[in-house]
Amino acid sequence: MRRRTVLSAAGAALAMLALGGTASAQEAMKIGLILPMTGPFASTGRQIEAAVKLYMQQNGDTVAGKKIQLIVKDDTGVADVTKRLAQELIVNEKVGVIAGFGLTPLALAPAPLATQAKVPAVVMAAATATITEASPYIVRTSFTLPQATVPMANWASENGIKKVVTLVSDYGPGIDAEKAFSGAFSAKGGQVENMRVPLANPDFSPFLQKVADAKPDALFVFVPSGVGAQFMKQFVERGLDKSGIKLIGPGDVTDDDILNGMGDVALGAITTQHYSAAHDSPENKAFVEAFKKANNGMRPNFMAVGGYDGMHLIYEGLKKSNGAGGEALVNAMKGLSWTSPRGPVTIDPQTRDIIQNIYVRKVERVNGELYNVEFATIPNVKDPVKAAKSN
Ligand code: DHB
Repeated sequence: MRRRTVLSAAGAALAMLALGGTASAQEAMKIGLILPMTGPFASTGRQIEAAVKLYMQQNGDTVAGKKIQLIVKDDTGVADVTKRLAQELIVNEKVGVIAGFGLTPLALAPAPLATQAKVPAVVMAAATATITEASPYIVRTSFTLPQATVPMANWASENGIKKVVTLVSDYGPGIDAEKAFSGAFSAKGGQVENMRVPLANPDFSPFLQKVADAKPDALFVFVPSGVGAQFMKQFVERGLDKSGIKLIGPGDVTDDDILNGMGDVALGAITTQHYSAAHDSPENKAFVEAFKKANNGMRPNFMAVGGYDGMHLIYEGLKKSNGAGGEALVNAMKGLSWTSPRGPVTIDPQTRDIIQNIYVRKVERVNGELYNVEFATIPNVKDPVKAAKSN
C-alpha cells in the first residue's frame, strides 16, 4: 500500500516534469551518469567515468550558457538499482540527461522513465540492437553487436573458414552476435553450430571441450567487456591454443582494457569492431595519450570511447539546441557528425544509433605490448537489424 503511494507520487512528479519542461529555466544542466562501478562489470564503469571526466577537463564545464554538472552513481550492475537511481536523479536532482548504462538490462530498465519524463538517455556501453527502440529519448554512442559482427562473418567466409562454432554469453548482445554471425556466414555457404554460456560466473570448460571435439576451422566468441581474460585462461587450459582452431569474434573478447595481460595466447586472434587503442589517427593518438596520462597509464578501451563520444554528443547537442533539454536536445543530437578517436561517426537521425567504421583487426605485439592492429576498414556501417527493418 505504502509502496504504491510512493510509486504513484514518483509517477506524478515525472509527469509534472514532463509538462513543465525539464528542470525549468536554469543555469545548470545536470547529467546523471549511471554505471556499474562495483561488481563483475566494474571495468566498464571505470573506463566510461574516466573518459567522461577527461572530456569535461578538455572542453570545460560551460556549454550554451549552461553549467554542466556531473553526478556519478553506481548501480552495481543490477537493473533494479539502475532504474531506482534514474528515478531519483530525474525527480530529486532534476537532471536534464541520464547516461552511461553498462549492460543491456541496465540500459533497458530506465527507458520508460526517460520517455515519461522526456529526459534524453545517452547509452554509452550497452549494445543489443533493440535498445534504441525502447524509448524515443535513447541515443547511443557505443555500437550494436550485429553492426560489429556481420563484417566478421564476411571476413571468415572470404578467408577459407568453412566450419565455425559460436560461443556467446546467453543474453541480449550474445544472442544478437550469434544470430548476426550465423545468418551472414551460412548465407555465404558456411557451416555453423551454436553454443551459449551463462552470463553470470561463466565456466567455459565444458563448452571448450565440445569445441575441441567438433574441430571447427574457427571458434567465434562473444563475451562482454572484462570477461575475455577468464575465457582466454580456460582456452589455454583446454589446449585450444595448440589445436589450430582460429579464434574470431566481435572485439569484446580482446578488449584493450585486459588484452595486454592475456599473453601470447591472444596473438593472431581476428576480431571486428569500431575501436582499437591502436587506431592510427591524430585524434586517437591524442585521446590515448591524454587518457593514459589522467589515469595512471590505463589504456582506453571501446567503452571509454563510447563515454567520450557520449559527452561530445551532449555538448554538441546543447550547442545546437541553444541549451534546451528534453525533446529539443534529442532532436539536436539526431544527424550530428564528428571525428571521434575511433574515426568518423554520425548519429543516424532515423534510429538514434551510431553509424561508424568497423575495422578488421589482428592481435599483434607492438613495442612489447599486445594490440588489436587494424588491417581493413568497412566504412559507415549502420546497425543491420534496423537497416533491414526500414527496407
Ligand atoms: C554489452 C556489454 C558489454 O560489456 C559488451 O562488451 C558488449 C555489450 C551489453 O550488455 O550490451
